[in-house]
Amino acid sequence: MILRVNRYRPGVDDAPVFQDYEVPDREDWAILDALTHIKDTVDGTLSFRWSCRMGICGSCGMNVNGEPKLTCGTFLTDYSGPVTVEPLRGFPVIRDLVVDIDPFLANLSKVSPWLVREGEEPETEFAQTPEQLEAYKQYSMCINCMLCYSACPVYVLDPDFLGPAAIALAQRYNLDSRDMGDRFDVLSTEEGVWGCTFVGECTSACPKHVDPAEAIQRYKLTAAMRSVLPFTRRRP
Ligand code: FES
Repeated sequence: MILRVNRYRPGVDDAPVFQDYEVPDREDWAILDALTHIKDTVDGTLSFRWSCRMGICGSCGMNVNGEPKLTCGTFLTDYSGPVTVEPLRGFPVIRDLVVDIDPFLANLSKVSPWLVREGEEPETEFAQTPEQLEAYKQYSMCINCMLCYSACPVYVLDPDFLGPAAIALAQRYNLDSRDMGDRFDVLSTEEGVWGCTFVGECTSACPKHVDPAEAIQRYKLTAAMRSVLPFTRRRP
């Protein structure tokens, strides 16, 4: 199997180039195993991120044959011809397959991703019913792998767009019965939910079956209702 890997050192190389590596055609190898093989036995300068190798840490995201994937969960057997591996689209490249995650983290921090409380705290634990947990649980499954940003045509064209994971994260707290926050001013903007054109690629790309497209459309409804009926309840 040929792995066609994007190589680039900003500030040193004029432009990214593809380099072909032949890797063993092993059925049990993920793309990440093949990259590790290249690094260990062929070219130690190849740079990429990984940590858990089990789809949990979210650090191994790359574009594989043009689609954002977790490379620890995408196997050589999923492809027949040469496999092209590139950095996630939409983010500045630091080196080879490593992108700068600071813009992504900055967007997450804009939505106050914590439980906002006002007034006296309850003296005992804050119990939730299974239904209350279910209301936001899906959105709490995000592993911050950034695949949804790389899949999103709006974010790739406009890095000011808040983006799918950040909006889903806002809903993770908006829909939590313990939260008393109000994220309307951040979400109901052109850079927020109104920038989304509902392509839905974010949801298709998510390896954890989070549905950011649904989160965005749902908040659009909330925001529209609030604009028409400003004195109705502010919670989604
Ligand atoms: Fe952790 Fe792939 S290495 S998700």
